[in-house]
Amino acid sequence: MNRVQEFRKERRITQCQLATAVGISRNYLSHIERQHAVPSVQVAFKISDALSVDIDKVFFDIKNSAEVSYPKPIKFIDLFCGIGGFRYASDIAFKKLGLEGKCVFSSDIDKYAQEAYEANFGERPAGDITKVEAKSIPDFDVLFGGFPCQAFSICGLMKGFEDNTRGTLFFDIARIIKEKQPQAFVLENVKNLVSHDNGKTMQTIFETLRDELGYHVDYHLLNALDFGLPQKRERILIIGSKKPFKMDWNFKIDKKKTLDDILEKNVDKKHYASPEIVAKRKSMHTATVTPSIWHENKSGNISSYPYSCALRAGASYNYLLVNGERRLTPREMLRLQGFPDDFKIVVSDCQTRKQAGNAIPVDMVAAVIERFLTMAF
Ligand SMILES: C[S@@+](CC[C@H](N)C(=O)[O-])C[C@H]1O[C@@H](n2cnc3c(N)ncnc32)[C@H](O)[C@@H]1O
Repeated sequence: MNRVQEFRKERRITQCQLATAVGISRNYLSHIERQHAVPSVQVAFKISDALSVDIDKVFFDIKNSAEVSYPKPIKFIDLFCGIGGFRYASDIAFKKLGLEGKCVFSSDIDKYAQEAYEANFGERPAGDITKVEAKSIPDFDVLFGGFPCQAFSICGLMKGFEDNTRGTLFFDIARIIKEKQPQAFVLENVKNLVSHDNGKTMQTIFETLRDELGYHVDYHLLNALDFGLPQKRERILIIGSKKPFKMDWNFKIDKKKTLDDILEKNVDKKHYASPEIVAKRKSMHTATVTPSIWHENKSGNISSYPYSCALRAGASYNYLLVNGERRLTPREMLRLQGFPDDFKIVVSDCQTRKQAGNAIPVDMVAAVIERFLTMAF
């Protein structure tokens, strides 16, 4: 519901005057006033400017939470769910807002991810999403999905939508949104998505979500380091709602975890690198802080930081070494992503490393969901 007509009449402005000031037709303005059309964020801003009223008041009053009506429970689906990063993040956000959330569908093609998800959330995710008919998915309010990044990543093949085995998975998200018409969605992807194919990939995503599906959409590049996790992990968050919104992407997180909070005290010998590798690393680099995580880049250069560089699912075994000596344990990797210690590890170390490298930084995504939900309904 918008209050355009109410404010316009209050200000004794005619429909014609307002439409001219905003640069839209009177007919379109009339549709908006009768709640038959949802304006783009830009038009919504122009209307509220022309009326000299805060956009929140004209289109939604986010300051008065009593006026925000949330479904009870808020039903969501967890696509490309991996080991449930979105599940944890949304749970934190729902709790902070005093809301009830309910996952009604999850999907991941990887059987080890399914095993881990089932052990931790009591539900086995459906498999390949390309084989799931959108109609068969229960109704839901919010879609969460960190769609696979290989096709968009600088580490991947740089093929984007041309890679028809992976690049099309975004279109599975789009087809489900089209059929199920959720109120909102939150998507996650790698930093490189924005620059991929000279911006054309992102443009296609935006055009699909905004122009074809009719959602108000925004995105931002965020870094897990700014959300209290000692991991430099930059990811794009794309948010969309049927309702116009203005997201403030500045977050102030005071509580910060350090490597000391993350690192385990008694680490099994199997996690240590060979004496040769340790000696080679130490001959090449001296750390200025302890503890530190030593990072080897693609050219073999070593650098160290009081935080971890981004965990990667398919990275070589020794590219991150704690104090130049040992690999991160699976539990440490999960902690670097913000997973709680009661997350049950039920698959091999190798699979857990891959899963942690694929996951989302829970604290970062939780902060975004918490703020966004107050505007999305
Ligand atoms: C970037 S990871 C997402 C991880 C997740 N957000 C988390 O926190 O663990 C992408 C996931 O998509 C899954 N996937 C890839 N292709 C899929 C398909 N066709 N159907 C369902 N899941 C798929 C992969 O197995 C992987 O777990």
